[in-house]
Amino acid sequence: MIVCLCKGVSSRTILDEARRGHCTVKQIRQSCQAGSGCGACVRQIRQLLETVGPARHERSETTPPASEPS
Ligand code: FES
Repeated sequence: MIVCLCKGVSSRTILDEARRGHCTVKQIRQSCQAGSGCGACVRQIRQLLETVGPARHERSETTPPASEPS
């Protein structure tokens, strides 16, 4: 689904960018241009970022690697 009509950026692209570490609207703007036109999509971009969000990063930082013996 296209989220940013001005730049033709899909939700999939935004989620891919978020998973690569672009976790703010500003970073998304710089990486794929979404949100850099009229700004109408910024709220939706923010919501998408929340689905990938800080909780995921925090969890991955505190969880030991699966291959490590316990
Ligand atoms: S719809 Fe994304 S900047 Fe206009």
